[in-house]
Amino acid sequence: MSMGRLSAFGAISALILAGSAVTGFAADPTPADLVDALNGVFGKHAGMRAAHTKGFCVTGQFTPAPEAAALSKAPHFAKPVPVTGRFSLGGGNPEAPDNVKGNVRGLALRFDLGGGAVTDLVMISAPVFFVQTPALFVEFLQTVGSGDKAKLDAFFAAHPESTRQAAWLGSHPVPASYAGVDYWALHAFTFTNEKGEKALVKYKAIPDAGDLGLSDDEATAKGPNFYEAEMKERLAKGPVSFELVAIRGKDGDPTTDPTLRWDDEDARATSPLGKVSIDALAPSATCDAFSFLPGNVVDGIAGPVDDPVFQARSTAYIVSFIRRQAQ
Ligand code: HEM
Repeated sequence: MSMGRLSAFGAISALILAGSAVTGFAADPTPADLVDALNGVFGKHAGMRAAHTKGFCVTGQFTPAPEAAALSKAPHFAKPVPVTGRFSLGGGNPEAPDNVKGNVRGLALRFDLGGGAVTDLVMISAPVFFVQTPALFVEFLQTVGSGDKAKLDAFFAAHPESTRQAAWLGSHPVPASYAGVDYWALHAFTFTNEKGEKALVKYKAIPDAGDLGLSDDEATAKGPNFYEAEMKERLAKGPVSFELVAIRGKDGDPTTDPTLRWDDEDARATSPLGKVSIDALAPSATCDAFSFLPGNVVDGIAGPVDDPVFQARSTAYIVSFIRRQAQ
Protein backbone atom coordinates (compact mmCIF):
# COMPACT_ATOMS: atom_id res chain seq x y z
CA MET A 1 0.00 0.00 0.00
CA SER A 2 1.50 3.31 -0.98
CA MET A 3 0.07 6.23 0.90
CA GLY A 4 2.92 8.66 1.36
CA ARG A 5 1.36 11.34 -0.83
CA LEU A 6 -2.18 11.14 0.44
CA SER A 7 -3.64 13.67 2.83
CA ALA A 8 -4.17 12.50 6.40
CA PHE A 9 -7.88 12.05 5.77
CA GLY A 10 -7.32 10.28 2.47
CA ALA A 11 -4.72 8.08 4.11
CA ILE A 12 -7.10 7.07 6.87
CA SER A 13 -9.90 6.28 4.43
CA ALA A 14 -7.53 4.28 2.23
CA LEU A 15 -6.37 2.21 5.17
CA ILE A 16 -9.86 1.57 6.45
CA LEU A 17 -10.94 0.42 2.98
CA ALA A 18 -7.85 -1.71 2.47
CA GLY A 19 -8.19 -3.17 5.93
CA SER A 20 -11.80 -4.14 5.48
CA ALA A 21 -10.98 -5.82 2.18
CA VAL A 22 -8.31 -7.94 3.81
CA THR A 23 -9.84 -8.62 7.18
CA GLY A 24 -13.51 -8.61 6.24
CA PHE A 25 -14.21 -12.28 7.02
CA ALA A 26 -17.04 -12.81 9.44
CA ALA A 27 -14.89 -14.59 12.01
CA ASP A 28 -12.19 -11.94 12.08
CA PRO A 29 -12.27 -9.26 14.74
CA THR A 30 -12.94 -5.74 13.50
CA PRO A 31 -10.42 -2.96 14.19
CA ALA A 32 -12.70 -1.78 17.02
CA ASP A 33 -12.76 -5.33 18.50
CA LEU A 34 -8.95 -5.24 18.64
CA VAL A 35 -8.90 -1.90 20.46
CA ASP A 36 -11.76 -3.00 22.76
CA ALA A 37 -9.74 -6.11 23.66
CA LEU A 38 -6.80 -3.89 24.66
CA ASN A 39 -9.13 -1.61 26.65
CA GLY A 40 -10.65 -4.69 28.31
CA VAL A 41 -7.34 -5.60 29.90
CA PHE A 42 -5.72 -2.20 30.41
CA GLY A 43 -8.75 0.08 30.83
CA LYS A 44 -9.62 3.15 28.78
CA HIS A 45 -7.35 6.11 29.29
CA ALA A 46 -8.75 9.33 27.85
CA GLY A 47 -6.62 10.90 25.14
CA MET A 48 -4.07 8.08 25.18
CA ARG A 49 -3.02 5.23 22.91
CA ALA A 50 -4.77 1.87 23.51
CA ALA A 51 -1.35 0.17 23.31
CA HIS A 52 2.19 1.38 23.94
CA THR A 53 0.48 4.01 26.05
CA LYS A 54 3.52 5.04 28.05
CA GLY A 55 6.17 6.67 25.93
CA PHE A 56 7.76 9.88 24.77
CA CYS A 57 8.42 11.69 21.54
CA VAL A 58 11.76 12.52 19.90
CA THR A 59 13.07 14.11 16.72
CA GLY A 60 16.14 13.56 14.55
CA GLN A 61 17.30 12.56 11.08
CA PHE A 62 17.68 9.49 8.93
CA THR A 63 20.72 9.32 6.66
CA PRO A 64 20.59 6.47 4.16
CA ALA A 65 23.53 4.13 3.61
CA PRO A 66 25.05 4.34 0.08
CA GLU A 67 23.85 0.75 -0.54
CA ALA A 68 20.19 1.38 0.42
CA ALA A 69 18.97 2.82 -2.90
CA ALA A 70 20.07 -0.36 -4.70
CA LEU A 71 17.54 -2.29 -2.59
CA SER A 72 14.54 0.04 -2.53
CA LYS A 73 13.44 3.08 -4.51
CA ALA A 74 11.76 4.60 -1.41
CA PRO A 75 12.80 8.29 -1.28
CA HIS A 76 14.42 8.16 2.18
CA PHE A 77 16.86 5.49 0.95
CA ALA A 78 18.21 8.04 -1.53
CA LYS A 79 18.42 11.26 0.54
CA PRO A 80 18.63 12.26 4.23
CA VAL A 81 15.25 13.13 5.78
CA PRO A 82 13.96 14.41 9.15
CA VAL A 83 12.36 11.83 11.46
CA THR A 84 9.89 12.02 14.31
CA GLY A 85 10.08 9.05 16.68
CA ARG A 86 8.46 7.65 19.78
CA PHE A 87 9.96 5.31 22.36
CA SER A 88 7.39 3.33 24.33
CA LEU A 89 6.60 0.38 26.59
CA GLY A 90 4.27 -2.35 25.34
CA GLY A 91 0.74 -2.68 26.70
CA GLY A 92 -1.97 -0.17 27.46
CA ASN A 93 -0.99 0.82 31.00
CA PRO A 94 0.05 4.50 31.12
CA GLU A 95 1.96 3.74 34.32
CA ALA A 96 3.70 0.57 33.13
CA PRO A 97 7.00 0.10 35.02
CA ASP A 98 10.17 0.80 33.00
CA ASN A 99 12.15 -1.71 35.05
CA VAL A 100 10.47 -5.05 34.24
CA LYS A 101 11.73 -7.68 31.84
CA GLY A 102 8.57 -9.17 30.41
CA ASN A 103 7.52 -6.17 28.33
CA VAL A 104 8.62 -5.01 24.91
CA ARG A 105 10.16 -1.62 24.28
CA GLY A 106 8.93 0.17 21.15
CA LEU A 107 10.57 2.45 18.62
CA ALA A 108 8.22 4.02 16.08
CA LEU A 109 9.62 6.25 13.32
CA ARG A 110 7.98 8.62 10.85
CA PHE A 111 10.20 9.67 7.93
CA ASP A 112 9.36 13.10 6.50
CA LEU A 113 9.83 12.64 2.75
CA GLY A 114 9.04 16.25 1.86
CA GLY A 115 6.01 17.81 0.18
CA GLY A 116 3.71 16.46 2.90
CA ALA A 117 4.63 12.82 2.22
CA VAL A 118 5.54 10.56 5.13
CA THR A 119 6.28 6.87 5.69
CA ASP A 120 6.35 4.96 8.99
CA LEU A 121 8.32 2.12 10.57
CA VAL A 122 7.09 0.57 13.83
CA MET A 123 9.44 -1.72 15.76
CA ILE A 124 9.72 -3.54 19.10
CA SER A 125 12.59 -4.94 21.15
CA ALA A 126 11.78 -8.56 20.25
CA PRO A 127 12.12 -10.34 16.93
CA VAL A 128 8.70 -12.05 17.22
CA PHE A 129 5.10 -11.19 18.10
CA PHE A 130 3.01 -13.10 20.65
CA VAL A 131 0.13 -14.27 18.43
CA GLN A 132 -0.29 -15.50 14.88
CA THR A 133 -3.62 -13.83 14.07
CA PRO A 134 -5.90 -10.95 15.11
CA ALA A 135 -8.48 -13.48 16.42
CA LEU A 136 -5.82 -14.96 18.72
CA PHE A 137 -4.83 -11.43 19.81
CA VAL A 138 -8.40 -10.94 21.10
CA GLU A 139 -8.59 -14.45 22.59
CA PHE A 140 -5.25 -13.97 24.34
CA LEU A 141 -6.19 -10.59 25.84
CA GLN A 142 -9.59 -11.88 26.95
CA THR A 143 -7.86 -14.84 28.60
CA VAL A 144 -5.43 -12.53 30.38
CA GLY A 145 -8.35 -10.29 31.37
CA SER A 146 -10.23 -13.23 32.88
CA GLY A 147 -7.48 -13.51 35.50
CA ASP A 148 -7.90 -17.28 35.31
CA LYS A 149 -4.43 -18.85 35.45
CA ALA A 150 -5.69 -22.25 34.30
CA LYS A 151 -7.24 -20.69 31.19
CA LEU A 152 -4.00 -18.87 30.42
CA ASP A 153 -2.02 -22.10 30.80
CA ALA A 154 -4.50 -23.79 28.46
CA PHE A 155 -4.07 -20.98 25.93
CA PHE A 156 -0.28 -21.41 25.96
CA ALA A 157 -0.63 -25.21 25.75
CA ALA A 158 -2.83 -24.81 22.68
CA HIS A 159 -0.58 -22.09 21.19
CA PRO A 160 3.05 -22.85 21.93
CA GLU A 161 4.00 -20.21 19.31
CA SER A 162 2.64 -17.62 21.78
CA THR A 163 5.32 -18.47 24.34
CA ARG A 164 8.20 -17.38 22.06
CA GLN A 165 8.09 -13.65 22.70
CA ALA A 166 7.96 -14.01 26.50
CA ALA A 167 10.80 -16.56 26.37
CA TRP A 168 12.87 -14.16 24.30
CA LEU A 169 12.23 -11.23 26.66
CA GLY A 170 12.87 -13.40 29.71
CA SER A 171 16.28 -14.38 28.41
CA HIS A 172 17.39 -10.76 27.86
CA PRO A 173 18.08 -8.16 30.53
CA VAL A 174 15.93 -5.11 31.19
CA PRO A 175 17.38 -2.48 28.80
CA ALA A 176 19.18 0.25 30.74
CA SER A 177 18.11 2.73 28.07
CA TYR A 178 15.85 2.92 25.04
CA ALA A 179 19.14 3.73 23.28
CA GLY A 180 20.67 0.39 24.26
CA VAL A 181 18.51 -2.37 22.79
CA ASP A 182 17.84 -3.89 19.36
CA TYR A 183 14.47 -3.29 17.69
CA TRP A 184 12.76 -5.31 14.93
CA ALA A 185 9.76 -4.53 12.72
CA LEU A 186 9.52 -8.36 12.73
CA HIS A 187 7.14 -8.75 9.75
CA ALA A 188 8.62 -9.65 6.33
CA PHE A 189 8.72 -6.70 3.91
CA THR A 190 9.44 -6.68 0.18
CA PHE A 191 11.65 -3.94 -1.24
CA THR A 192 11.60 -3.00 -4.93
CA ASN A 193 14.39 -0.96 -6.53
CA GLU A 194 14.35 1.31 -9.60
CA LYS A 195 15.07 -1.66 -11.86
CA GLY A 196 12.05 -3.51 -10.51
CA GLU A 197 14.19 -6.06 -8.65
CA LYS A 198 12.64 -7.37 -5.45
CA ALA A 199 14.23 -8.27 -2.11
CA LEU A 200 12.60 -9.92 0.90
CA VAL A 201 13.77 -8.27 4.14
CA LYS A 202 13.15 -7.84 7.84
CA TYR A 203 14.11 -4.51 9.45
CA LYS A 204 16.38 -4.37 12.48
CA ALA A 205 17.67 -1.27 14.30
CA ILE A 206 20.98 -1.84 16.13
CA PRO A 207 21.99 0.72 18.78
CA ASP A 208 25.36 2.43 18.31
CA ALA A 209 25.58 2.57 22.13
CA GLY A 210 25.62 -1.25 22.17
CA ASP A 211 23.33 -3.53 24.19
CA LEU A 212 22.94 -1.84 27.57
CA GLY A 213 21.36 -4.25 30.05
CA LEU A 214 20.61 -4.04 33.76
CA SER A 215 21.08 -6.85 36.26
CA ASP A 216 17.91 -7.76 38.16
CA ASP A 217 19.16 -5.82 41.20
CA GLU A 218 20.05 -2.79 39.11
CA ALA A 219 16.61 -2.86 37.48
CA THR A 220 14.92 -2.95 40.88
CA ALA A 221 17.06 -0.04 42.06
CA LYS A 222 16.15 2.06 39.01
CA GLY A 223 12.46 2.11 39.95
CA PRO A 224 9.51 2.29 37.55
CA ASN A 225 10.22 5.61 35.78
CA PHE A 226 13.70 6.21 34.49
CA TYR A 227 13.73 5.92 30.69
CA GLU A 228 12.68 9.47 29.83
CA ALA A 229 15.13 11.15 32.25
CA GLU A 230 17.88 8.79 31.08
CA MET A 231 17.22 9.79 27.47
CA LYS A 232 17.24 13.49 28.34
CA GLU A 233 20.61 13.10 30.05
CA ARG A 234 22.01 11.05 27.17
CA LEU A 235 20.82 13.51 24.52
CA ALA A 236 22.44 16.37 26.42
CA LYS A 237 25.77 14.68 25.60
CA GLY A 238 25.05 13.98 21.93
CA PRO A 239 22.72 12.19 19.51
CA VAL A 240 21.36 8.70 20.12
CA SER A 241 21.81 6.63 17.00
CA PHE A 242 20.87 3.28 15.48
CA GLU A 243 22.08 1.42 12.38
CA LEU A 244 19.03 0.41 10.41
CA VAL A 245 19.70 -2.83 8.53
CA ALA A 246 17.76 -5.19 6.28
CA ILE A 247 18.04 -8.85 7.28
CA ARG A 248 18.04 -10.61 3.90
CA GLY A 249 15.36 -13.17 3.18
CA LYS A 250 15.53 -16.06 0.76
CA ASP A 251 13.06 -18.12 -1.25
CA GLY A 252 10.80 -20.14 0.97
CA ASP A 253 11.20 -17.97 4.07
CA PRO A 254 7.87 -17.72 5.91
CA THR A 255 6.17 -14.32 5.54
CA THR A 256 2.75 -15.00 7.04
CA ASP A 257 3.48 -15.71 10.71
CA PRO A 258 4.84 -12.95 12.98
CA THR A 259 5.61 -15.44 15.77
CA LEU A 260 8.29 -17.07 13.59
CA ARG A 261 11.88 -16.07 12.99
CA TRP A 262 13.61 -17.12 9.81
CA ASP A 263 16.08 -20.02 9.99
CA ASP A 264 19.34 -18.79 11.41
CA GLU A 265 18.02 -15.24 11.33
CA ASP A 266 20.79 -13.83 13.53
CA ALA A 267 23.46 -15.28 11.24
CA ARG A 268 21.84 -14.00 8.04
CA ALA A 269 23.51 -11.48 5.77
CA THR A 270 22.29 -7.96 6.41
CA SER A 271 22.38 -4.89 4.17
CA PRO A 272 22.89 -1.44 5.68
CA LEU A 273 19.94 0.89 5.16
CA GLY A 274 21.15 3.93 7.06
CA LYS A 275 21.58 5.75 10.33
CA VAL A 276 18.73 6.90 12.57
CA SER A 277 20.06 9.77 14.65
CA ILE A 278 17.85 11.13 17.44
CA ASP A 279 18.91 14.52 18.77
CA ALA A 280 16.11 15.90 20.94
CA LEU A 281 13.08 15.11 23.04
CA ALA A 282 9.91 16.60 21.56
CA PRO A 283 6.59 17.54 23.18
CA SER A 284 4.10 14.63 23.42
CA ALA A 285 1.72 16.68 21.29
CA THR A 286 4.09 16.27 18.32
CA CYS A 287 3.64 12.48 18.33
CA ASP A 288 0.06 12.48 19.60
CA ALA A 289 -1.15 14.47 16.58
CA PHE A 290 -0.96 11.37 14.39
CA SER A 291 -0.56 7.61 14.53
CA PHE A 292 2.57 5.73 13.43
CA LEU A 293 1.01 3.27 10.98
CA PRO A 294 2.74 0.00 10.06
CA GLY A 295 0.95 0.02 6.70
CA ASN A 296 1.98 3.57 5.83
CA VAL A 297 4.69 2.59 3.38
CA VAL A 298 5.79 4.21 0.11
CA ASP A 299 6.59 2.93 -3.36
CA GLY A 300 9.61 0.64 -3.04
CA ILE A 301 8.40 -0.93 0.23
CA ALA A 302 5.53 -3.40 0.69
CA GLY A 303 4.28 -5.16 3.80
CA PRO A 304 3.36 -8.86 3.78
CA VAL A 305 -0.06 -9.30 2.15
CA ASP A 306 -0.64 -12.71 3.76
CA ASP A 307 0.38 -11.81 7.32
CA PRO A 308 -2.99 -11.31 9.02
CA VAL A 309 -1.46 -9.46 11.97
CA PHE A 310 0.32 -6.96 9.72
CA GLN A 311 -2.86 -6.46 7.72
CA ALA A 312 -5.01 -5.86 10.81
CA ARG A 313 -2.71 -3.47 12.60
CA SER A 314 -3.05 -0.14 10.83
CA THR A 315 -6.84 0.03 10.98
CA ALA A 316 -6.74 -0.79 14.72
CA TYR A 317 -4.20 2.02 15.20
CA ILE A 318 -6.55 4.40 13.39
CA VAL A 319 -9.43 3.40 15.68
CA SER A 320 -7.19 4.07 18.68
CA PHE A 321 -6.13 7.39 17.12
CA ILE A 322 -9.70 8.51 16.41
CA ARG A 323 -10.78 7.58 19.95
CA ARG A 324 -7.86 9.37 21.59
CA GLN A 325 -8.48 12.48 19.48
CA ALA A 326 -12.16 12.47 20.44
CA GLN A 327 -11.48 12.33 24.20
C1 HEM B 1 -3.06 -7.54 15.95
C2 HEM B 1 -1.93 -7.05 16.41
C3 HEM B 1 -1.76 -5.68 16.98
C4 HEM B 1 -2.69 -4.78 17.42
C5 HEM B 1 -4.20 -4.95 17.48
C6 HEM B 1 -1.98 -3.59 17.84
C7 HEM B 1 -2.60 -2.44 18.33
C8 HEM B 1 -1.95 -1.24 18.60
C9 HEM B 1 -2.61 0.00 18.91
C10 HEM B 1 -4.12 0.17 19.01
C11 HEM B 1 -1.65 0.93 19.09
C12 HEM B 1 -1.85 2.42 19.42
C13 HEM B 1 -1.96 3.21 18.12
C14 HEM B 1 -2.22 4.69 18.31
O1 HEM B 1 -3.09 5.08 19.10
O2 HEM B 1 -1.55 5.47 17.59
C15 HEM B 1 -0.37 0.28 18.91
C16 HEM B 1 0.85 0.89 19.03
C17 HEM B 1 2.06 0.25 18.81
N1 HEM B 1 2.26 -1.04 18.37
FE1 HEM B 1 0.83 -2.38 17.98
N2 HEM B 1 -0.64 -3.77 17.64
C18 HEM B 1 -0.45 -5.03 17.12
C19 HEM B 1 0.74 -5.61 16.75
C20 HEM B 1 1.97 -5.01 16.90
C21 HEM B 1 3.20 -5.61 16.43
C22 HEM B 1 3.36 -6.94 15.71
C23 HEM B 1 4.19 -4.73 16.75
C24 HEM B 1 5.64 -4.96 16.45
C25 HEM B 1 6.36 -4.16 15.73
C26 HEM B 1 3.58 -3.56 17.40
C27 HEM B 1 4.23 -2.43 17.86
C28 HEM B 1 3.62 -1.27 18.29
C29 HEM B 1 4.33 -0.07 18.71
C30 HEM B 1 5.84 0.12 18.80
C31 HEM B 1 3.35 0.89 19.02
C32 HEM B 1 3.58 2.32 19.52
C33 HEM B 1 3.54 3.33 18.38
C34 HEM B 1 3.68 4.73 18.94
O3 HEM B 1 4.64 4.96 19.70
O4 HEM B 1 2.84 5.56 18.64
N3 HEM B 1 2.23 -3.79 17.45
N4 HEM B 1 -0.58 -1.05 18.60
